[in-house]
Amino acid sequence: MKLSEIYAKGAENLRKKKLLFYLQGVETEFVLEHNEEIFKRFKFLQKAIGSKPASTETTLLGVNLQTPITMSSVSMPIPQIAEDGLIQVAQGVREAGSMMWTGSPLPKNLDELVRTGVPLVQTIKPYEERGRIFQEIETAERAGVTAVGVEVDAGQGTKIRDQIMASGCTPISVGELREIKEAVKRPLVLKGVLSPWDAEKSLEVGADLIVVSNHGAHTIDSLPHPLEVMDEIVKVIDGRIPIMVDGGFRRGTDVLKGLAFGAQAVGIVRPILYGLAANGKEGVREVLEQMTSELRRTMTMVGIRSPAEVKKDILL
Ligand SMILES: Cc1cc2nc3c(=O)[nH]c(=O)nc-3n(C[C@H](O)[C@H](O)[C@H](O)COP(=O)(O)O)c2cc1C
Repeated sequence: MKLSEIYAKGAENLRKKKLLFYLQGVETEFVLEHNEEIFKRFKFLQKAIGSKPASTETTLLGVNLQTPITMSSVSMPIPQIAEDGLIQVAQGVREAGSMMWTGSPLPKNLDELVRTGVPLVQTIKPYEERGRIFQEIETAERAGVTAVGVEVDAGQGTKIRDQIMASGCTPISVGELREIKEAVKRPLVLKGVLSPWDAEKSLEVGADLIVVSNHGAHTIDSLPHPLEVMDEIVKVIDGRIPIMVDGGFRRGTDVLKGLAFGAQAVGIVRPILYGLAANGKEGVREVLEQMTSELRRTMTMVGIRSPAEVKKDILL
């Protein structure tokens, strides 16, 4: 199946299973709509003559990957799409040479997912009951995850349309994040940074990677797209830690725009859910491989050999 067919079939199957709601956006859906429109603002400067075939291989959190396109955090509603959906996603992501990210609820079979051989990052919400954060970190580390993360943008939980989804969360402080950093044995990721302010705080905490994200339009309304705040964030981070970005990336060209703005990796969730709903683990693998193939073709035609070489000057 071609990428556009996977997306269409995935959406159709999610509709039949009455699961499309989970892909909707908070309140007015302003953020959701904007997340996909933003990519139309940017175009590439082609360098056709003398360009050489590009490679998409990269390293993230110390892991060698075939692609800078990774999954971003999601658990719910994968088991509703397919009972063994999390295992299928793990296998599809591993076969594509990418990285799996799970969110809440913490998968019960996290160790089984890790045993598939997929590098896995588990992110955790800032639960009011702080003890739960430490418990989940311990469970994740015992399962053998590559890194753990805190979803700093879920300080008021999550919301889809008018429905509160995750509740029982409250904003987390630099002091608390520092305690977490001291307690974890793996790299610490902070997900949901969307301002130079939070980027600065992430450095203070000693984060090992930040994800610039508006949580796929599941937190508060009227947030910007990550690419609108990337320049300022990149300035603050100044190459000290890697930056991942997510939100609305659907094609390889979108991914290259994310890299051009200074991200080392780009996360996707809805495309993974479409892939799973359309064709199980093969669908997940196909989505990652086809987006990566689009990325590779485009990199080649703008004169870029590897993700590390990408700079803003490939954009008009
Ligand atoms: C159904 C669904 C569940 C999600 N669950 C989580 C989660 O548990 N934790 C988290 O940090 N982000 C979660 N997200 C947000 C994603 O990690 C990611 O930031 C966003 O969806 C990326 O945008 P995209 O779906 O347009 O690719 C979820 C998103 C969706 C659509």
